[in-house]
Amino acid sequence: MLIYVDPQSYSNHYIKECALDKLPPTCKLTSDLNNLDKIDIYVAGFGQVTKEMIEKAKNLKVIIRNAVGTDNIDKESAKKHNIPVYNLPLVNYESVAELVIACMLACGRYIVFNHVANVNNQQHDYYRQYQGIELFHKTVGILGFGHIGKRVAEIVKAAFGCDVLVYDPFIDASIAEKYGVTLLDDYKEIFKKADFITIHTPLTESTKNMVDAKCLALCKPNCILINAARSGIVNEDDLYEALKNHTIHSSACDVLDKEEGNKLFTLDNFIGTSHVGGNSQEARKRVGEHLYEKLMEEIKKIEG
Ligand SMILES: NC(=O)c1ccc[n+]([C@@H]2O[C@H](COP(=O)([O-])OP(=O)(O)OC[C@H]3O[C@@H](n4cnc5c(N)ncnc54)[C@H](O)[C@@H]3O)[C@@H](O)[C@H]2O)c1
Repeated sequence: MLIYVDPQSYSNHYIKECALDKLPPTCKLTSDLNNLDKIDIYVAGFGQVTKEMIEKAKNLKVIIRNAVGTDNIDKESAKKHNIPVYNLPLVNYESVAELVIACMLACGRYIVFNHVANVNNQQHDYYRQYQGIELFHKTVGILGFGHIGKRVAEIVKAAFGCDVLVYDPFIDASIAEKYGVTLLDDYKEIFKKADFITIHTPLTESTKNMVDAKCLALCKPNCILINAARSGIVNEDDLYEALKNHTIHSSACDVLDKEEGNKLFTLDNFIGTSHVGGNSQEARKRVGEHLYEKLMEEIKKIEG
């Protein structure tokens, strides 16, 4: 049995320690794409898994993404060749949700701005010009109510007494009831009503550019927008204009079209991190453990 492992996977040592090193001796590993035609299992990382690659992999039986999200995999081609595509849905929702709360508080209280100003010896009248915004008892809007969206809702309700508005056309009203949130039919209502908006949808044809100038124009001037889902969901040019013109308060994005030279970094009401939502010690260890479980399940299916 030959298993292709995306070379980036080795940047998480738990993938090697908790998963790859424990596989049965019948399993051989490769990170050489020249072996694509011989592999049985593809362990995908951040890199693209294209139609051409899938067509070349004549022996391929399953693709497993070593994280959450499968938008870098050509699922149409995989489906055409009857190759199931899995990811590890439970590994990092807690870590991402906690980062989102940190971003909400950091934006609301100018934490990064204040720190950078101090580092650069810049004087500001913080007490008059930069009074922060509390999260306490605010309205939080959540786009996409899956694992991360639900956890964010639990935290902001329990810790800050927030009202939560949700847009997710794929969930049942009973889920909204269970979590004590208000389910809306039109996502634009969230932009009109929420003080904090956070995005937790996958990147798909329907969510691409979902948050554009029209949506941002609906926001309250004190609105804070967080995107820890995928770049491409928020139109960055439109976000830049909204932040520059202060039609919204501030924004934090963990996912960006590009990091180097991104004009959003010229704004003092923007915080950008490097896709670190799932980058906690706990979540990285879970990736190794869950990958091992999924690999063993698939190996058993293949070996019979
Ligand atoms: N920043 C990071 O490091 C990081 C880590 C993990 C996941 N993510 C991203 O976060 C996203 C959400 O993760 P999750 O674990 O909550 O996924 P999930 O699959 O549990 O939830 C996604 C939710 O989005 C909903 N949805 C799909 N299309 C929608 C649409 N058009 N409008 C509104 N809702 C829609 C689905 O019904 C689902 O409930 C992932 O797809 C991934 O892109 C980022």
